[in-house]
Amino acid sequence: MTNKYMYFVANWKMFGELNSLNSLNKVIKFSKNFKKKSIKIIYCPPATLINSMSKMFKNSKIEVGAQNAHESDNYGPFTGSINSKMLKDVGAKYIILGHSENRKSGETNRLINLKIKSALKINLKVIFCIGETLQEKREKKTIKVLNNQIKSGLKGITNKKDIIIAYEPVWSIGTGLTPKKNDLFKTIASLKKKNKKLKVLYGGSVNPRNISDLKSINNIDGFLIGGSSQETKKFIDIIKKTYN
Ligand code: PGA
Repeated sequence: MTNKYMYFVANWKMFGELNSLNSLNKVIKFSKNFKKKSIKIIYCPPATLINSMSKMFKNSKIEVGAQNAHESDNYGPFTGSINSKMLKDVGAKYIILGHSENRKSGETNRLINLKIKSALKINLKVIFCIGETLQEKREKKTIKVLNNQIKSGLKGITNKKDIIIAYEPVWSIGTGLTPKKNDLFKTIASLKKKNKKLKVLYGGSVNPRNISDLKSINNIDGFLIGGSSQETKKFIDIIKKTYN
């Protein structure tokens, strides 16, 4: 796993304020001293911090992403919404779309498809989340659900070079549970077989304790990290342990 390109994406969710940025000096320092060239660190804070974070990371290799956006390409009467173009304007290069926490509050595959198209149009790279629920896993529907989410989410999109899949089983997000090694290997292999050239990240309770196990699944292109990314030390630990 040490010689391929690895992504470490921090998903801060609805956590963080200006004060929280102080701890990022450590990660900037770490990334400057870290010898591995084939590594991408991407921070996805709440929209309120994208501008400040981009400025902070300006002279480093760390990039910034957003966590969601409205599907419209243009300005419009959508109170409380922000579109991809506005997020790019303040420094986002990536965007997480299709996260299960947003699917839970009503985002459909069709809406996610529109959001992905809108983000790609202005050249944001998309971290497209997919994942099965516990019920679907129990019914052995994982692969079917994932294929369906990809098919609908990427409908009409021919150029997929700016799309990264993040496989996040819904039952593993924030729970401390992770899939069995063999299951995860097989799921990722199946996704890659069907979606040639697409990178596939894993997300769901990644932490400094389970990273040694997860990194040994050698078809994963990186990790989408929620809770553990909110503490800089844990996030750095995860990266270090991936290469140990
Ligand atoms: P978690 O979240 O690492 O806290 O499980 C991952 C995510 O939701 O992206």
